[in-house]
Amino acid sequence: MHLRCSNKNCGQTLDLHDRALQCAACADLLEVAVEEIASNPEELKNVWIRRRTSRAPEDVSGVWRYREFLPNCYSDIVTMSEGNTPLVRGRKTAAWTGVRNLTFKHLGWNPTGSFKDLGMTVGITEARFVGAEVVGCASTGNTAASLAAYAAQAGLRARVYIPAGQVSQNKLAQALDFGAEIVPVDGSFDLALDRLISNLAAGLYFLNSINPFRLEGQKTAMFEMLDQLEWKAPDYLIVPGGNLGNSSAFGKAFVELQETGLLDQPPRLIVVQAQGANPFVRTWRSGSPELEAVERPETSATAIRIGNPRSWKKAMRAVRRSNGFVMDVTDEEIAEAKAMIGRDGIGCEPASATTLAALRKLTARGQIDRDAVVVAILTGHALKDTDFIIKSQRLDPKAGELHS
Ligand code: F0G
Repeated sequence: MHLRCSNKNCGQTLDLHDRALQCAACADLLEVAVEEIASNPEELKNVWIRRRTSRAPEDVSGVWRYREFLPNCYSDIVTMSEGNTPLVRGRKTAAWTGVRNLTFKHLGWNPTGSFKDLGMTVGITEARFVGAEVVGCASTGNTAASLAAYAAQAGLRARVYIPAGQVSQNKLAQALDFGAEIVPVDGSFDLALDRLISNLAAGLYFLNSINPFRLEGQKTAMFEMLDQLEWKAPDYLIVPGGNLGNSSAFGKAFVELQETGLLDQPPRLIVVQAQGANPFVRTWRSGSPELEAVERPETSATAIRIGNPRSWKKAMRAVRRSNGFVMDVTDEEIAEAKAMIGRDGIGCEPASATTLAALRKLTARGQIDRDAVVVAILTGHALKDTDFIIKSQRLDPKAGELHS
């Protein structure tokens, strides 16, 4: 396996373990080029089912279980049994949107409570493999918590750059608990990321989702989802978009699954942003070849308060290839949808609720019909932002009164 430029017209290749952050020729992001898979689809499906009965850590992990499609040079992986997240049926939420078949893939039910763990098990394994001692990222909170946990497991030091005062206390508490060094930056996530990149210390291994190994892990969410759906793709897949690593990873999964014959037609990918932090939506609407960045992103869904998403080109290709689209929802719509997911007994953090808010809008406008099969990706656990819940859902002063 090797790295290559994600721009197909460029075609530059690099050694798999090269630590470049972008292509030296055209400055686009890099990706892992997966070698042609020798096994046929039925063999692969059976191997993956068999691994579910094994106790070996690389089989128990819902990421490494699909290792035919991952960098495979490691004798020692850093895993905490990530993945293995369920599909949960939406009931009240389905009725609320009007679709008959709504399922949530809850990536918030990972070890540190977000989908970041799927990428971090691969990213940290690679960091240790190349001899890194310190790993770092900029983060709106979840990447920080995940990086800190996996670094601790691997015996590495973690340094996280966060937008000061804009990260939920719950996520900050996790990063502290796992022993990360916290660097607050006055400004947005985008500035924190710029700061980290421009001060990249020689020994620091960089683990934002620009790092191609992160996306390799995150793409396995789609392998697991399709495995759970017995390889019948839904009509639509709805995903929140921030820095756009996850949408990019899912798009890469669909290409590889199609090339191997495991998937005929990918679901239509719908990427959803918050209206106050919607650079991808603006770019989608205008059709501009350049990103229309948002200088001061603003949303109460702090996880996706991002104005300059680095993986936007990869994500744009993924949306176009799947015949999907990009849209935004307001903070009020997010809060309402989040409460609804809570009432289904599922719960999630605000950024995840953009998915249900988008679905409600689409069905109201008649853009998605009642019989469509929809999977919404929930990216973070309800306990990731308890402040948001307490502030947005008032306690009932009459609770507990006896009614005769
Ligand atoms: N949902 C949650 C809960 C997130 O934490 C993030 C990103 C996203 C969605 C968006 O995913 O960036 O791949 O498009 N959180 C990052 C962080 C930025 O630092 O934790 P994306």
